[in-house]
Order: sequence, then structure tokens, then C-alpha cells
Amino acid sequence: MTEHSMNATAMERKLTMTLDGQPVGFSEGETIYQVAQRAQKNVPTLCYDERLEAFGACRLCVVEVEGVKAPVASCTTKVTPGMIVRSGSPTIEKYRKTLLELVVSENREVDVNPLRGFASQELTTLVDRYGARTGRFKGKKSGTSNKSDDNPFILRDYDLCISCYRCVRVCAEQEGDYAISMMNRGFSTQITTEFNGRLKDSDCTFCGQCVQTCPTGALADKKALRAADLPGEVTKTRTICPYCGVGCSVDLLTKGDRLVGVQPAMDGPANGGALCIKGQFAFDFVQHEDRLKKPLLRQADGSFKETDWDTALDIAAAGFRRALEQHGRRSIYGIASGRAPHEAAYSMQKFIRAGFGTHYIDNCSRA
Ligand code: SF4
Ligand code: SF4
Ligand code: FES
Repeated sequence: MTEHSMNATAMERKLTMTLDGQPVGFSEGETIYQVAQRAQKNVPTLCYDERLEAFGACRLCVVEVEGVKAPVASCTTKVTPGMIVRSGSPTIEKYRKTLLELVVSENREVDVNPLRGFASQELTTLVDRYGARTGRFKGKKSGTSNKSDDNPFILRDYDLCISCYRCVRVCAEQEGDYAISMMNRGFSTQITTEFNGRLKDSDCTFCGQCVQTCPTGALADKKALRAADLPGEVTKTRTICPYCGVGCSVDLLTKGDRLVGVQPAMDGPANGGALCIKGQFAFDFVQHEDRLKKPLLRQADGSFKETDWDTALDIAAAGFRRALEQHGRRSIYGIASGRAPHEAAYSMQKFIRAGFGTHYIDNCSRA
């Protein structure tokens, strides 16, 4: 250990605060929320996404800090040595319930289909935790849905928007796209594109990250929602997107034997919850009716005729043998599709390398 790192460790050791009566260590720059998370305190949040700069919009994460008159937002307040914090006193819990009652009073509905997006259940879960379906503040609704936006991927159902700006921030900070922003103020606040146009006329790349971080389902995955009425529960299966070499972790959503949607893995080491349009939305090929299920043999006139696997494989083997004998091993080149399973890509390279002794292989996922 170097002298510098020893000093740093010694300094870190000295940084302590008191959280709910217990001494807790912290590192320079940490927020109360981060320390509370580490201490397994169940501080609720709505506008927080750990991948983004804290924003302090929803005030649900408020805590009491000794010596400070009003509750403070824990997600934006840095811890200082000796700070004394209460993360869930009855008074704070009462504030949070009232806040939630106010939030849901403006929304058309609270219970939304989980197929809408990864975080779509966050508001519902908190409302249930706090028993905030009281209807005490029932009245005017805020947000104007833009359901006629004729893009094929994203439902813009802003009646359910709570102005947490997670969508705007993920678009700017994660995707670097700045395709959406907010317009107006107060009750009239609305998420919008430039000049309030259609998403497909904006800079949107349809990466879907705004959909997956939205805590209310105001932004929703239109393709996954097509399966809302299919029978059965949604099952999630973790895998790696095959489309390119980045290796983004995804959860495939299935109902029975149908692939109905894709969600990014928020803990994916390569992507941290990000995807591109292909990984997010281009999965229809898996069950497409035009997909080849039998081998086709090209005829002399250029047309194709169905055949059986033995015949097709014999013809292919004869073609390979002829190329090898007449032009040598370097005349053979194998290429696999990013839409084929990983196992098929592995088998292809093994076949070409071991079978013909050449490294001439490729996969469109490399691009
Ligand atoms: S889909 Fe991606 S690029 Fe489009 S608005 Fe959402 S985050 Fe921005
Ligand atoms: S659309 Fe969703 S993510 Fe965006 S501000 Fe509204 S509630 Fe938040
Ligand atoms: S989570 Fe802290 S203000 Fe919203």
C-alpha cells in the first residue's frame, strides 16, 4: 500500500455520521441516500436512477437532519462528518404518504401493466407501501397523452407522467441524445420533443431507455404491450444480445412459448441498462411467419425449391469439397448472422477452422 493510499484510507476511516442512532462510515462526496442504501434503509425514491445525476424533483427521499429545520432530499444532500440523520421517523413517513397522495391525485391511473417498462411498477409499489390510495386530493388531472404519435415503439401516455424527468435525463446523460425535454411549468409541465413534434421526426434513436426508466409507465413499450392480453405470466430470462460485439445483458420477456419483449439488464456489466434500437425492439424475426424453417435449393432458373436436410447437406458438402480441391483452403469463408444463436456462431467458426484449416470467418455482430 502506498503512503498516499494509506493516508486516504485513514481519512476515510475518520468520516462517520449517525444514521438512525447508529454510527456509519462514509466516503467523501457520498449523499445521505447512498449511505442509507448501503445501510439497507428503505428510503423511497421516484425521481432517482442511480445511473443519473441526482435531481431532487420528487422529494420522496426526504430525511431529517439534526439542526436543519425542514426535511432534506437525501439524494442530493452530501453527508458531512458528524451529521445526525433520521431516515424514517413517523413524521417523515407521514410527509411521504401525503406526497404520494398528491402525486397520484393528478394521474389517470396507478395500476399499469408491467409490460410497459422495467421501472413501470415503482409508483404503484410505493402507493401500496404507504396506503396512499386515499383519494384525499382528488381533482384536476395533469399531463396530456400523445397516443397518436405514430412511431412503432414508444407509447407516450403522459396522463400518467409525474414530471420526474428521468426520461429527459437518461436521454441526455446516458444516450447523449437530448431528443426530449420539458415545456411549460407547474400543472402544465409536459415532456416534449423539439417543436412538440412526433418522436420519429426528432433526434430520438428509439433506444428505449426513457421507457425503461419511467417509474409510472407514462412511457411504454408498444411492442411488449401487444402481449398484454395473451394468457399466462411473464417470465424473464437473462441472456446477451447477439446483435453486436458489445455484449449487452438483456432480459427476454416470454409468455408461454412466445417472446413478447426485451428489457435491458440494469446490472449488465457492458450496458448498465442501456440498449440500442435493435437490442431493444428488433426481436420480431424470432417468431416471424416468413422465417425459413426448411432448406431451399436454388434451381437453374434462380428460383428456390424446398428440400430435405439430408439432400441439402450433401449438396453443400460437395460444394465445399469442390472449392477446397480446386482453389485451396483460403477460398472458403464462413460468416454467421447476428440473428443466429451464439451456439450457431460458435459451431460455424469451429466448422470452418477445424474442417478447412482457415481462419477466414466473420460475424455481422463484429461490426
Ligand atoms: S428512445 Fe432513447 S433517444 Fe429516444 S427519447 Fe427515449 S432515451 Fe431519448
Ligand atoms: S414520462 Fe415518465 S420518466 Fe418522463 S417525466 Fe414523466 S413520469 Fe418521469
Ligand atoms: S428521489 Fe430524491 S428527490 Fe426524488
